[in-house]
Amino acid sequence: MTKRNLALVILAAGEGTRMASERPKVMHAIAGRPMIGHVAASAAALDPERTVLVIAPGMDAVAEAAAAHIGALDVVVQKERLGTGDAARTALAALDGFEGDALIVCGDVPLVTAASLERLLDVHRNGMAPALTVLAMRPDDPAGYGRLVLDDNGALKAVVEDRDGGPEEQVLGLCNSGIIALQAAVLPDLLSDLNSENAKGEYYLTDTVAAARARGLRCAFAEAPVEELLGVNSRADLALAEAAMQDRLRGRAVDGGAALAAPDTVFLSADTDLARDAVVEPYVVFGPGVSVGEGAVIRAFSHLEGAQIAAGATVGPFARLRPGTEVGPGVRVGNFVEIKNARLGEGAKANHLSYLGDADIGARANIGAGTITCNYDGVTKSHTEIGEDAFIGSNSALISPLTVGARAFVGAGSAINRDVPADSLGIARERQTNVANWAKRKPGRR
Ligand code: UD1
Ligand code: CA
Repeated sequence: MTKRNLALVILAAGEGTRMASERPKVMHAIAGRPMIGHVAASAAALDPERTVLVIAPGMDAVAEAAAAHIGALDVVVQKERLGTGDAARTALAALDGFEGDALIVCGDVPLVTAASLERLLDVHRNGMAPALTVLAMRPDDPAGYGRLVLDDNGALKAVVEDRDGGPEEQVLGLCNSGIIALQAAVLPDLLSDLNSENAKGEYYLTDTVAAARARGLRCAFAEAPVEELLGVNSRADLALAEAAMQDRLRGRAVDGGAALAAPDTVFLSADTDLARDAVVEPYVVFGPGVSVGEGAVIRAFSHLEGAQIAAGATVGPFARLRPGTEVGPGVRVGNFVEIKNARLGEGAKANHLSYLGDADIGARANIGAGTITCNYDGVTKSHTEIGEDAFIGSNSALISPLTVGARAFVGAGSAINRDVPADSLGIARERQTNVANWAKRKPGRR
């Protein structure tokens, strides 16, 4: 294979009208990550020399989401949405002086892997040295996709858009994935050949194939599995892509040694990190930013995001861990416990019905059922510190800012708003009164 420099062009200026959404299409999430982030991450794995992102005016969020996965990014703005060919033309200035191959990728093909992009480049750079190579697929339902038209020698002759094709093209099963590799040197000429005389009245990037042929240049195609090339244009497509991505992530999790008894019921994020021998029971949802250490158990019906779970910890069933949660080794977090921005030291326990927010909880501390950190006074959030081996009695309200010292006790049912020193008992509740024979005198008693 000839080793040539690579420049990436990612097209993301489309509005995604068919999504019926305020949000730019490529910002819709799959496995907790915007589509554009998936595309950018796969593309970045090819280590391109330059990357150009084409967005529409006001799409700064798209640029940010892509930049999270790509080191150096040139962002260019397509002022009017005149089609994929026009979008590619917008990128030309940023490719000035570049020699090598340009890889043009649509931002709405979120399942694309680095491997499928490499397969395209392999074909593009091998043997016949085509000027242009299209990455193709054979979807069960080709509706909506551009169709590859081959000549008698089986070489790529044209790509005909779904709406522009007659019945003849529409029966062809080979579809354009929206990803094209070209020798960068020919790109400006091919783009200048385009016109908008077609069903959509747009400049089609796909017409560069016919343009190349008209100039006597060779065109080729490579194929990749449709599971990697699904294009997302509607909410229904988004759901299909989500399902395919979940399958892929579940496969990776179990191949990596995590135990998922019912993988189909576990929802992962693109960055979910499950260590070997981590156990995930049925019906668990992982939002972005979760890691689970070796042998930790996430029990059924738990919801986690932005949480680090150390080895040997147990979480759930029915636990909710929110961003900033750090669960130490061997910690137990039980049912109906919500944790946010809080750290639980090694061996600490919060087994039932608690809210722990903005808190540091020392090793081996025991948080009784129904403990609430009252971290918000309507204006500011404040912090609760609980020392090692402390014991918080059930149904306590810990009114922050507050420190409960090491080995201290809090009496059950207390509302604690002053620090409890180490080794002390803090108790703050009405003393119990028993009224003898009260029941006998109760009116209406038989
Ligand atoms: C496109 C292809 C089609 C292919 C399909 C694969 C063309 C003309 N058609 O169709 O052959 O089968 O993708 O999924 O290329 N975009 C811009 N500026 C524009 C228009 C689009 O940046 O003016 C971007 C969009 O953000 C999107 C991508 O280009 O990421 C594709 O545009 P879209 O309108 O979705 O094209 P399709 O109709 O799906
Ligand atoms: Ca599309």
